[in-house]
Amino acid sequence: MKFFIDSADIAEIRDLADTGLVDGVTTNPSLVAKSGRDFLTVLAEICAAVSGPVSAEVTATECDAMLVEARRLSAVAPNVAIKVPLTWDGLKACRALSQGGIKVNVTLCFSPAQAILAAKAGASFVSPFVGRLDDIGHDGMGLIRDIVAIYRNYRDAFRTEVLVASIRHPLHVIDAAKIGADVCTVPPSVMRQLSKHVLTDKGLDAFLADWKTTGQSIAT
Ligand code: G3P
Repeated sequence: MKFFIDSADIAEIRDLADTGLVDGVTTNPSLVAKSGRDFLTVLAEICAAVSGPVSAEVTATECDAMLVEARRLSAVAPNVAIKVPLTWDGLKACRALSQGGIKVNVTLCFSPAQAILAAKAGASFVSPFVGRLDDIGHDGMGLIRDIVAIYRNYRDAFRTEVLVASIRHPLHVIDAAKIGADVCTVPPSVMRQLSKHVLTDKGLDAFLADWKTTGQSIAT
């Protein structure tokens, strides 16, 4: 499974990228606004910090205007992936961009039907938002299960990776991995939570306390 960081906070991204466990980044207009930074400037910094795909979302809603923005965003760095919303104009833009060799992440996906269209449009990634479905009492992980099952029926035709988004906690990551999703994009806080377990901390403390009683040192 690939891990992307869902953030436009360059300090967080750099810190997590230092682990070598980060395969990409996803941003969106809300995350960029939260960063308080100039979009193209912070996008360039993120693309320099992480070698994998960095999703940058257009803000236009009409196809031709999306393509103009996509050209500007793609020029920032070779690892920019263009994010478009799952609308007819977004799908049209996705088709045009993917035929031109540009990676596209089709976002704001909330149904299997939408995911089929994203794959038909040549998307590199589709971003189903599990957390926002859970938030309204729908089955977010059920959507991931359906999309993965549908895409598996068309392995030759569909090249779209399922990028699980709107992740709220580690269980979303575990369930996505059990289902076989390709990517999870996680907030920095969830990425850090993945490594945590109380028994790991307790066990390490006990090891180090016992080691200290030996008076030995490995390094010297
Ligand atoms: O960036 C796309 C998605 O991960 C946003 O999720 O937390 O705003 O529902 P969220």
